[in-house]
This record gives sequence, structure tokens and C-alpha cells, in this order.
Amino acid sequence: MNAQANPTLAVRPMLPGEGRLLAEIFRSSITELTGEDYTEMQQEAWAAAAEDEAAFAKRLGDQLTIVATLGGAPVGFGTLETDDKIGFLYVHPAVAGQGVGAVLADALEKVAGGRGVASLKVDASDTASGFFARRGYVPQQRNSVRCGDEWLANTTMHKPLGGKETAQ
Ligand SMILES: CC(C)(COP(=O)(O)OP(=O)(O)OC[C@H]1O[C@@H](n2cnc3c(N)ncnc32)[C@H](O)[C@@H]1OP(=O)(O)O)[C@@H](O)C(=O)NCCC(=O)NCCS
Repeated sequence: MNAQANPTLAVRPMLPGEGRLLAEIFRSSITELTGEDYTEMQQEAWAAAAEDEAAFAKRLGDQLTIVATLGGAPVGFGTLETDDKIGFLYVHPAVAGQGVGAVLADALEKVAGGRGVASLKVDASDTASGFFARRGYVPQQRNSVRCGDEWLANTTMHKPLGGKETAQ
């Protein structure tokens, strides 16, 4: 299946009051999609970032947050943490592999490109690194990030966008 197979797949900015729903997508996505790459303890520490839903909603509100909808219902979200960095990218497990992540990444890349940045970076989870590699992101460095009592590995990846400014 791909995005074209479902004409009701759309993207729009996050709406006020959507923090709780996006926190649920975040937790389900981690719990059900990342088990091959992270231990249960690591998944729990990662998902705990959305435990305080008000704080999580504020974090999303402070970034440019784009929501993907299927038939009008939110099924995934992505953020630009800064003009040249993807912060979050999470798809609900019920619709994984149906092009939702791709439309979100397309939208974030378009916004970043429109802001003139030369390249976009992301600290990609081990679950998502193949997704980003497929879109032209190149691995730069491995990181180990403290998350509660756990350490989680990810990879900083860059994609040239063809903007005019020099990315730094
Ligand atoms: C990574 C993630 C966002 C991908 O979303 P998705 O909606 O399942 O991806 P899509 O269906 O849009 O996939 C687009 C393409 O990438 C490919 N792809 C998706 N995940 C992939 C992976 N892990 N490795 C390699 N290719 C992948 C798909 O096969 C598809 O290929 P196609 O263009 O030939 O059809 C989703 O798996 C997710 O939410 N993961 C858990 C949370 C996470 O780790 N987020 C990243 C934090 S940095």
C-alpha cells in the first residue's frame, strides 16, 4: 500500500487540545514498533517522555508540529525542532507502512526547504534509520542518549535540501 492508495491521507498543523491524542500515538508507536531495536526497559523510558501530557503538549506546541490524518482522524505527527532539525516523527502502529511517515517527512522537508536551510538533520532511532536512509538521509554519527535510567542509541543523519544557506 502507499499514500496514493488512500485519498483521505492528509497533513495539517497541530490543533490546540490535541496533546493527549498525540501522546497516545507517541506511546503506542514506541511500544509496538520499536521492540526489535530496543529493550522493554528502554521503550518504557522513551515513552515516559509523554507521561506528563500537559508538558508533552507544551513541547509539541513549542515546535512546528504537523499532524497526519486518515479520514480526518490523527494517525501520526512530526515536528521541526528547529528550522534544520526534525524532532519527533511517530506513526500509529495500526497504520504503519501505509505512507503516513512519508507524507509527514515530505511536509517537514518542504517547510525546512522553504525556510532556506541547506540540509535537514534528525537523530534517527534504530527503528527509523532505514526509513530515513531510503529518503536520502546520510548517517553522520552514533549517539547514546540518557533517557530516565536508560541509555538509548540513535544516529544523527543529514539530508541535503538544496537550500541557499550553509547549514550548520
Ligand atoms: C519510522 C516511522 C515513522 C515510519 O513511518 P511509516 O508510516 O511506517 O513509513 P511509510 O509507510 O511512510 O514508509 C515509507 C517508505 O519507507 C520504507 N520504510 C518504512 N520504515 C522503514 C524502515 N524501518 N526501514 C526501511 N524502510 C522503511 C517503507 O517500506 C516505504 O517504502 P516505499 O516508499 O518503497 O513504499 C514509523 O515506523 C514509526 O513511527 N516508528 C516508531 C517511532 C520512531 O522510531 N520514530 C522515529 C524517531 S526519530
